[in-house]
Amino acid sequence: MLQAAAKTFSVATTTSVSRGISLSIQNYCKKTPAKLRVSEAVTGAEIGANVKVQGWVRSVRPQKSNLFLHVNDGSSLQSLQVVASSELNDPLLTFGSAVEVTGTLKKSPQQKQSVELEADQIHVVGECNPVDFPFKIKERHGLEYIRQYPHLRCRTNAFSSLLRIRSEATTAVHSYFKENGFVQIHTPVITSNDCEGAGELFQVEPPGLENEEDEHFFSVPAFLTVSGQLHLEVMSGAFSRVYTFGPTFRAENSQSRRHLSEFYMVEAEVSFTQSLEDLTKVMEDMFRSATEHVLAHCAEDVDLFHKHVTPGHRETVDAMLKNRFPAITYSEAIDILNRSSQNFAFPTDWGCDLQTEHEKYLVKHCGNIPVFVTDYPYDLKPFYARDNQDHPKHTAAAVDLLVPGVGELCGGSLREERLDLLRARLEEAGLEDAYSWYLDLRSFGSVPHGGFGLGFERYLQCILGVDNIKDVIPFPRFSHSCVL
Ligand code: 4AD
Ligand code: MG
Repeated sequence: MLQAAAKTFSVATTTSVSRGISLSIQNYCKKTPAKLRVSEAVTGAEIGANVKVQGWVRSVRPQKSNLFLHVNDGSSLQSLQVVASSELNDPLLTFGSAVEVTGTLKKSPQQKQSVELEADQIHVVGECNPVDFPFKIKERHGLEYIRQYPHLRCRTNAFSSLLRIRSEATTAVHSYFKENGFVQIHTPVITSNDCEGAGELFQVEPPGLENEEDEHFFSVPAFLTVSGQLHLEVMSGAFSRVYTFGPTFRAENSQSRRHLSEFYMVEAEVSFTQSLEDLTKVMEDMFRSATEHVLAHCAEDVDLFHKHVTPGHRETVDAMLKNRFPAITYSEAIDILNRSSQNFAFPTDWGCDLQTEHEKYLVKHCGNIPVFVTDYPYDLKPFYARDNQDHPKHTAAAVDLLVPGVGELCGGSLREERLDLLRARLEEAGLEDAYSWYLDLRSFGSVPHGGFGLGFERYLQCILGVDNIKDVIPFPRFSHSCVL
């Protein structure tokens, strides 16, 4: 910018004046080091440049005449090696302290890195007492240990890798939908409906208001959303492909390794569907496209997990990407479970819901790759699921995607688009008044449609092999825990 301004000025003024001004600007440019992120500095593109790098100290190695630091600013897993004369050493330069380093980028003589910053100034911006700091230099702390420090764990390599992967996976999901003609809808967080009908709702009222009918803030009981599906269904009456990706809330078992009270769900709704395959195709394509994007754009971060946190998981991911996802019906799944020699804790009779132990068994049985289970018992599914009108085993056109290590990753269905059938089901549940607007959708240009929801944290667990869902979200919320 400054150089461009100098050039423009020199054209419009006398030569001597312009030369003076442009020289002083050049000097200014020379003196003011360019601020670089660590990820930019380590590429080597700026060798020879006078730069300033800001970040947090990941290691300190004072030697007789030199001081070596590693500085990381979260822009990548890599840290920048800083070499300084030992005169620049400072007792405040400790593991975890925040620093600003100015100097010249040089080719590194060492094999470990190609670039290093030869410092002429090191300024400690923020001290960090290494005795009190819960993470220790050179120690590889486990995910369970760092989970105790939700306000500090982003300072560790593993969790900062996770957060970069999460960010990139978010981009990948949006890119998939954009490239495939889906319109993003911001569905509301506060809603008066219980989409899943499971009663796992958090009610929303300002403090001091009781649940008396006339005292509700929104005039009716209102809740944090358990799913954006019904709002997407509204939109699928005007857009043939819509999606949403946002926070979702459920008051359910929080001791589990795959449930949170607040999680992120990716939901899509497709109009003019012919069959469940229209949905399973979107689920599978999105899974592949997002995973390939993450593997390509976060290779180092993913490697950290696959090498040090969950060794061996890369083979599972490769197998998932190599093979098409098979599909079995719920009835076939029940047969498989009943033929198995494993003793399950929960019953496997036709009509019972599949539990995590069953889902994990089915995934293993199908070759440890994702598997679709379709056509669940009608009575197990919420009012919106399309009736297959079969008997004696009465099923709904619903589908779950089960994945290695996690179990259920996605849940979806064709929606009941037939007004008479939908009205009968809502009447049976005493919900026809509350859902009169939903019935309206079936009166005005109703089309066969369907959709699904993917638990974003479970997706991250699946591709990284992480056992506990609390380790893949920045700030986990579960019962008895909302510390910050
Ligand atoms: O199977 P679910 O309940 O489906 C729905 O909510 C549908 N209305 C979605 C739709 O069709 N648009 O939830 C979808 C996914 C689950 O498969 C699971 O991966 C995730 O959301 N999920 C949770 N993830 C973390 N913590 C919880 N408490 C979760 N509950 C569901
Ligand atoms: Mg489900």
